[in-house]
Amino acid sequence: METTSRASNIPSKMKAWVYAHHGKPVDVLKLDLDVAVPQPTEDQVLIKVVAAGLNPVDFKRMLEMFIEADSPLPTVPGYDVAGVVLKVGSQVKILKEGDEVYGNINEKGLDHPKRYGTLAEYTAVEEKLLALKPKNLSFVEAAAIPLAIGTAYEGLEKTGFSAGKSILVLGGAGGVGTMVIQLAKHVFGASKVAATSSSAKLELLKSLGADLAIDYTKDNFEDLPEKFDAVYDAVGQSERAVKAVKEGGQVVTIEPVKALTAPAFRFILTSSGAMLERLNPFLENGKVKPVIDPRGTFPFSQGPEAFSYLETGRVTGKIVLHPIP
Ligand SMILES: NC(=O)c1ccc[n+]([C@@H]2O[C@H](COP(=O)([O-])OP(=O)(O)OC[C@H]3O[C@@H](n4cnc5c(N)ncnc54)[C@H](OP(=O)(O)O)[C@@H]3O)[C@@H](O)[C@H]2O)c1
Repeated sequence: METTSRASNIPSKMKAWVYAHHGKPVDVLKLDLDVAVPQPTEDQVLIKVVAAGLNPVDFKRMLEMFIEADSPLPTVPGYDVAGVVLKVGSQVKILKEGDEVYGNINEKGLDHPKRYGTLAEYTAVEEKLLALKPKNLSFVEAAAIPLAIGTAYEGLEKTGFSAGKSILVLGGAGGVGTMVIQLAKHVFGASKVAATSSSAKLELLKSLGADLAIDYTKDNFEDLPEKFDAVYDAVGQSERAVKAVKEGGQVVTIEPVKALTAPAFRFILTSSGAMLERLNPFLENGKVKPVIDPRGTFPFSQGPEAFSYLETGRVTGKIVLHPIP
């Protein structure tokens, strides 16, 4: 392992949430006090994790849903991190010890995600997947952003979204949906943003930039007379979504569905530090804000409880583990 380091007090063992078998988080996730601290390779940095964001993919991996290209057990879950660089590999170009960074540590969402994730005191990650933490954001806020904003941005790009276009966001109150609404409106310059949620979350959708908030418990979005240039489906409703898109428009879905109806397509995100750097100005000027569930910050010791809440599918925005010991 080629590294240069002034960090002297990094222990060899750390606390981490680990699962050695597949199953429900509450059954399989165990706190392990004796996990080896990962050694950064030459293009990686070692981060002291200050806050770790949770994503549905974490519990879906635990449930053995992505077994084809998953990492071997035992696994430390966690994609999203905000923390401080403690040590840099010899090929690391820009980041240095002491930098406050954030990112999604798995370059390809489902293609061999790291065995040692972010639900730990330390994690090792490639420099190219990280960005400097926006100065105005806390570590908790920063940890709520990377995977969700990356998925939102990449999906919008893949639909060819641009200023003046209209969009319907299905699942507007979730981790991804809250970012799609904000990026479409405040970064891409949408002419109109519509989004769906249950009744209690409609005001949130509007506060994020939705011009039209649709209560899915009362109205069917596909029955609206208005059609959209793009539909972003974060729920798994692509069959209905294609009825809400204009002729020639695009429907992107991020949920696995058995059969996609044209023009709907699915993608799996790619993590990128450069993309976060590009979006940092919008986070720093407050146009795009992290959205954290009112009950969404759990101490490290409550990892399984945090997952139980996430698994309800009713979380508003994001859930973050903090403080990490
Ligand atoms: N392909 C990829 O690369 C990729 C990337 C990220 C995420 N994903 C997947 O995309 C999905 C969404 O991720 P996420 O992080 O946004 O999940 P999430 O934060 O857990 O989503 C929860 C939100 O979904 C809303 N919701 C549930 N059913 C709904 C419905 N029928 N209509 C409208 N809103 C509904 C809920 O609002 P209400 O309480 O109002 O219902 C809740 O606020 C997950 O399955 C995740 O695994 C895929």
